[in-house]
Amino acid sequence: MTDQAPRPEGDIPGKPTAASRTTLSHIMTGNDTNLLGTVHGGVIMKLVDDAAGAVAGRHSGGPAVTASMDEMVFLEPVRVGDLVHVRAQVNWTGRSSMEVGVRVMAERWNESTPAQQVGSAYLVFAAVDADGKPRPVPPVIPETERDKRRYQEAQIRRTHRLARRRAIRELREKRAAEGIED
Ligand SMILES: CC(C)(COP(=O)(O)OP(=O)(O)OC[C@H]1O[C@@H](n2cnc3c(N)ncnc32)[C@H](O)[C@@H]1OP(=O)(O)O)[C@@H](O)C(=O)NCCC(=O)NCCS
Repeated sequence: MTDQAPRPEGDIPGKPTAASRTTLSHIMTGNDTNLLGTVHGGVIMKLVDDAAGAVAGRHSGGPAVTASMDEMVFLEPVRVGDLVHVRAQVNWTGRSSMEVGVRVMAERWNESTPAQQVGSAYLVFAAVDADGKPRPVPPVIPETERDKRRYQEAQIRRTHRLARRRAIRELREKRAAEGIED
């Protein structure tokens, strides 16, 4: 079973996935390294959040904040000199939230090989108004078969996120009701 958030009052015209898809590219420098001399995971996470935020702002036509980041995967180390491409797109939209999928690719500075995937992540952004309150977003329209698959997978993740949050909240309420302190 998947969860589909109710559509906002008043129809907001949909936008195709391709309308906000974005790639940000950066050359990694010596300032980006960890103690092993490869690029720090936190540097990559910042790039991921930046690219996803740009896409969420584009899609929703205004400010959007990161609500969650999950399934951040690092597949291969990134090195100083590598040209990193961070590709992001809106996979799914709810009422005020958007799931953004991000793929991180690296072109090795010393190899003439195609860019290699080095990471990926899924983030949820909430579009907010001037008071920081959630505001409705246009529904995303997946066009290609790949976009449709990503939309369906994002719905599954959404269902699991909500179920997990609900289960944890219920457990905490139950423990509190039993007078258990931790
Ligand atoms: C994200 C935020 C706007 C949500 O506000 P809220 O009052 O909880 O509002 P809601 O419960 O209506 O949530 C709004 C939407 O975000 C989704 N959402 C909220 N928290 C979420 C989470 N942890 N994971 C996934 N989705 C989440 C809700 O499901 C809802 O989606 P929908 O409208 O499509 O159904 C609020 O918690 C916030 O401002 N957080 C800080 C964001 C921030 O500063 N980010 C930068 C980090 S430094």
